[in-house]
Amino acid sequence: MPKKRATAIASPNIAFIKYWGDHDPALRLPANASLSMTLASLQTETTVIFDDRLETDQIEIDGSPDAEKAANRVTLHLDLIRTLSGDPTFASICSQSNFPAGAGIASSASAFAALSAAASAAAGLELDEKQLSILARRGSGSAARSIFGGFVQLFTGKLNEDGYAEQLAPADHWQLIDLIAVVRKEHKSTGSSEGHQLAPTSPIQAARVQDTARRQEICKRAILQKDFQALAQIVEQDSNLMHSVMMTSDPPLLYLEPESISIMKHVTQWREDGLDVCYTIDAGPNVHCICSADDSIEVEHQLRSIDGILDILRCAPGNGVALSANNEQTPQ
Ligand code: DP6
Repeated sequence: MPKKRATAIASPNIAFIKYWGDHDPALRLPANASLSMTLASLQTETTVIFDDRLETDQIEIDGSPDAEKAANRVTLHLDLIRTLSGDPTFASICSQSNFPAGAGIASSASAFAALSAAASAAAGLELDEKQLSILARRGSGSAARSIFGGFVQLFTGKLNEDGYAEQLAPADHWQLIDLIAVVRKEHKSTGSSEGHQLAPTSPIQAARVQDTARRQEICKRAILQKDFQALAQIVEQDSNLMHSVMMTSDPPLLYLEPESISIMKHVTQWREDGLDVCYTIDAGPNVHCICSADDSIEVEHQLRSIDGILDILRCAPGNGVALSANNEQTPQ
């Protein structure tokens, strides 16, 4: 009986222009386009083995079998791949991340990018990067961007094929550093998937979505021209806009903790004092401090003097998803 296996490694990404809300929740088509930097150092490694002897999928995430809702989401994603390959075989999946899940460090992005690459390879599907990005998006919107390294744009539209990512510039284009100030390590109470559904209940979501092309263009130009001041202004505005939508939805979502606000205020002061640094925060309380490589040592030093920071993770721009060399489609 054939056993087909593949392993893939992917990194999360931090969105400079964020998406919030789904245009089509079933297809996970984002309400607006987005732009991110893939993060080196942090990664998820996932092995998928399709095995004729299995009577159900066996899923192990970070050492624990069937971790809550995550396992259902993985099975749904494998179902998509089984439909594409026309092979109904169940699989065993082992996925390991080297950073905390569910705390605003896009663990679902690296998880579904790695799962999509490993499972499609094990199933014998030969997908190009665009097709892989579309597939990854069905598992988690932000995962579409983690297929690529460096600086990445995610487009959206009305059709499944409209929602795919593309590299804007490679990882070595600009040595920015993301210093992630971790202020909470526990899993967030409201995940992004639930949060996206609340977005349309905010009276300011429509204006945020309508203004996306402007923000995306300014951010894109700032990256291509390596203009830190322009990047800082638009990245902070975009993050504040998304959190304003979250806070004004019904029921409201407040991801920021007192420590998050304290770091935001320090970061804007440090920038006024001459350091190249700005903040951005995803669906969690941890603060991503984006800085130039030159100023990152001083920013990290300053961060260490603020109370309530549990950990600081340091990430340069990273690579896109990669398959391991020892993948096989061998008879057992
Ligand atoms: C705030 O990709 O986590 O990080 O599709 O439900 O997994 P799901 O959503 P997810 O949403 C990302 C939200 C964000 C902004 C962003 O990364 O663009």
